[in-house]
Amino acid sequence: MQKVPPGVGPRHPQVVVLVGATGDLSRRKLLPGLFHLAAAGFIPGCRIIGVSLDELDRDGFRDFVRKALDEFSTRKVADDAWHTFAQNLDYVPLAAGAAALRAAVDQAEQSFSGESRRLHYMSVPPNAALSAVRVLGDAGLVERSRIIMEKPFGTDLASAVSLNARLHEVFDEEQIFRIDHFLGKEAAQNILAFRFANGLFEPIWNRNFIDHVQIDVPETLALGKRAAFYEATGAFRDMVVTHLFQILGFMAMEPPTALEPAPISEEKNKVFRSMLAIRPSDVVRGQYTGYRSEPGIAPESDTETFIALKCSIDNWRWAGVPFFLRTGKRMAEGQRIISIAFREPPKSMFPAGSGVGAQGPDHLTFDLADASKMSLSFYGKRPGPGMRLDKLSLQFAMHDTGLIGDVLEAYERLILDAMRGDHTLFTTAEGIERLWEVSTPLLEAPPAVRPYAPGSWGPNAIHQLVAPHAWRLPFERVWRDPNRVGS
Ligand code: BG6
Repeated sequence: MQKVPPGVGPRHPQVVVLVGATGDLSRRKLLPGLFHLAAAGFIPGCRIIGVSLDELDRDGFRDFVRKALDEFSTRKVADDAWHTFAQNLDYVPLAAGAAALRAAVDQAEQSFSGESRRLHYMSVPPNAALSAVRVLGDAGLVERSRIIMEKPFGTDLASAVSLNARLHEVFDEEQIFRIDHFLGKEAAQNILAFRFANGLFEPIWNRNFIDHVQIDVPETLALGKRAAFYEATGAFRDMVVTHLFQILGFMAMEPPTALEPAPISEEKNKVFRSMLAIRPSDVVRGQYTGYRSEPGIAPESDTETFIALKCSIDNWRWAGVPFFLRTGKRMAEGQRIISIAFREPPKSMFPAGSGVGAQGPDHLTFDLADASKMSLSFYGKRPGPGMRLDKLSLQFAMHDTGLIGDVLEAYERLILDAMRGDHTLFTTAEGIERLWEVSTPLLEAPPAVRPYAPGSWGPNAIHQLVAPHAWRLPFERVWRDPNRVGS
């Protein structure tokens, strides 16, 4: 188990009110994440009150949590750590109302000797969260509290504005943490370290050296138990307006004046302000064959399970550099990459047939997996007579450091940050509203969905979208396996 460095945990003991406690996200990520944070000593004494529409009692909830850990915890659940954790779990059905919730929070707080804080985690779609937000207000649980809101935050500009307004009736902006778990991924934060902790790359991080960028997140997953949510949401709202645009913000922003929440948000928001509105003609929407006959899906459904688009950032750094984004369900491979293609040399003195340029431009590639990787590819000489060139690469894998066990999963990292009041990796009202604004032309006139075969890379039209470039995935050369000598 990793050691907790001083100063990374919250200053005060926490009561977590977990709304939507019996839902999918809670089972898969939040409860295992809270357990790990508690067992590793990040949040000593933290008490968790589950809230949901289900009529459970405290013991029923403890059983539910234990099953969730057995099924989804990526680390071993030691008996003594579980017993301590279980002691700190309580449950209140939403129907029991404000007074019952207040009583449970009071009881939890009485177990602390000094000051404490409350963290309300709304693990339900933001619209559905509003009724619980009112209950929190009625229960007098706004003081000394912070609230985490899930995504997608709204479905368009008007709904995001109204959601923000209704939330602000109860919570101040500084209490609100709009979560986007991609920003909690170790590899996403490493983009900031890579860019701003080194003198080598930032000078070439612009339109003079970069030809185009791809942010590509294909998934092999289907819908699981989320058909109703997905059918109403689609790939654009589920993934692009949230995760992919946020990653784009980190990749494209100017150096912030400090590594602090306000300067980082400001630079990210400037990127979003410079984004051009998305043109429907720059978008390919797809739907995998068979989607319409799945349970819970309308037989005429127009929901996209795939989307690829081109977007542009019209500022001094990026004018003229296309950013291609792609994501979808039931695709050929599960990957999460950012691929940066550099401009090719203006002239080649290499003989015809030497292979220069034959394998595409030089690329810098980030793999955003928890076990993250990075690669810089370039042309080099093949040993032997004459001048034959091959594509070579410098690669780094987190595995090489031996520190992979220290990686906090995205939700763990973000829950800890919210408990500490650190907004750095959360999104702002302004940023989200702007992203909906640039999406408006697409939302108002979406191109028709095109079918694609499950297990493919999307509809054929993706190739025209990216031409004269090519999609980086599937990779022509696989990542080197650090465990295989000579690979
Ligand atoms: C979620 C989306 O936010 O992100 C899911 O709702 C998607 O549809 C998931 O599968 C991907 O996250 P990760 O961390 O598994 O890449």
